[in-house]
Amino acid sequence: MSKRVLGLPRRSFLVGGGGALAALAASPWLRAADGRREYTLRAAPEPIQLLGGDRPATKVWAFNGAVPGPELRMKQGEPVRVTVENGLPEGTTVHWHGLRVPNAMDGVPDVTQKLIGPGESFVYEFTPPDAGTYWYHPHQRSHVQVGRGLFGPLIVEDKEPIAVDRDLTWILNDWRLNNAAENIDDFGNFDDRFHDGRLGNTIALNGRRPSPFTVRAGERIRLRLINAAIARIFALRFEDHAPQIIAYDGQAVKPHAPEKDRVILAPSQRVDLIIDMTGRPGQSFAVTDNFYVALEKEPAYKLLDIAYGVAPPIRENLRDDPIALAPNPIPEPDIANAQQLPIVFGGGALAHGMIAGAMTGGIDWNINGRSMYEQDHGQKSEPIYTLARNRSYMFRMTNGTSFYHPIHLHGHSFRVVAREQRLTTLPEWRDSVVMAPGERVDIAFVADNTGEWMFHCHILDHQAFGMMASIRVT
Ligand code: C2O
Ligand code: CU
Repeated sequence: MSKRVLGLPRRSFLVGGGGALAALAASPWLRAADGRREYTLRAAPEPIQLLGGDRPATKVWAFNGAVPGPELRMKQGEPVRVTVENGLPEGTTVHWHGLRVPNAMDGVPDVTQKLIGPGESFVYEFTPPDAGTYWYHPHQRSHVQVGRGLFGPLIVEDKEPIAVDRDLTWILNDWRLNNAAENIDDFGNFDDRFHDGRLGNTIALNGRRPSPFTVRAGERIRLRLINAAIARIFALRFEDHAPQIIAYDGQAVKPHAPEKDRVILAPSQRVDLIIDMTGRPGQSFAVTDNFYVALEKEPAYKLLDIAYGVAPPIRENLRDDPIALAPNPIPEPDIANAQQLPIVFGGGALAHGMIAGAMTGGIDWNINGRSMYEQDHGQKSEPIYTLARNRSYMFRMTNGTSFYHPIHLHGHSFRVVAREQRLTTLPEWRDSVVMAPGERVDIAFVADNTGEWMFHCHILDHQAFGMMASIRVT
């Protein structure tokens, strides 16, 4: 590269008013000679202060020395280049979760590229076709590599941003730490593997234990929520506030209030919210999570407080600018003529403490009766379906297990058209859809992206131990 100019990303991640909430690492990029924005991500072990105070640092694996990795901000329709350097003791890749990239850039070892060995690097080049909230993470031994801290946000800016006072990203994950602040090295243990996956004991927001989120009365915030946890599902409730959901998994949706006031966020899912700060100066409100309460697995807990500063309201009347996002250019499936394909998810324990098929050993997670194991790179598996390019398909999916599964398809976004055989009202675009135990969900999409695409559960223990398959588009 001859001439390189340091780019100046438009930034607004710092919480205003001296708020203590962790800010995301900067996202510097260079302008390459060919005009592309160019980023470098280096994956390497790193000691990081997760707990604050005088607690010991935790040895994590990080991109560019930070968890989460830097927020990569890109522009819709503008080509980028990302060089990934591997400073880890094992092979890795990076997958651009939710972005509809060409197959060779999708970051799946042995399927779309060779593993990036220790000391090696790989150059990814793509043009994000869609605006919205995405993220990146390795696709090799994901339950360990993501679980050790390798993940980061990726924002594709709208051509015409909606009017808000602040545009913020909250990327959530959890850690399983011991008293010495070490990430307990029991990844993929039997219990996690066949139940809910590795649920941590320490929640983190933008890589740190959450602290109060300082706001100013009257401001309007766009909050981009990303669930980068390897197994935890969140159900967030914003006390006395009325968030409007404007996007799922990066894709615009008709603005609406969350069902039963809970914003559900399963692993890998994103939800963009518009929140008007309707409290008064000096007030404080809780953001709580109660997902596992109904399942009697964990009590509810407070994620953080929304803390109003003492400054007078930023405006007397709330903003009334439109909040609907422009739709992305995704081809609309022809539902009436879509070819219907059955998909059944199986395996796992029957319920907590009850192992299905314990006598026969037949408990590995599977899709249509077949298990594909993510941790064994080099393994080959025939696609469960081969789809004709530009045809519409409907996957008629059944969760035949006792657990939740966020099911993710690479290379495409799909519409969630029915649940329990009843048409959905929105019906929203997604790249990951969460299925409750026993639930039936129908999704539809146009198979417009050529290649072999992974299709798997995003509870990464489930992905590692069999709940993965591929779909070929030719
Ligand atoms: Cu978030 Cu197959 O990936
Ligand atoms: Cu699963």
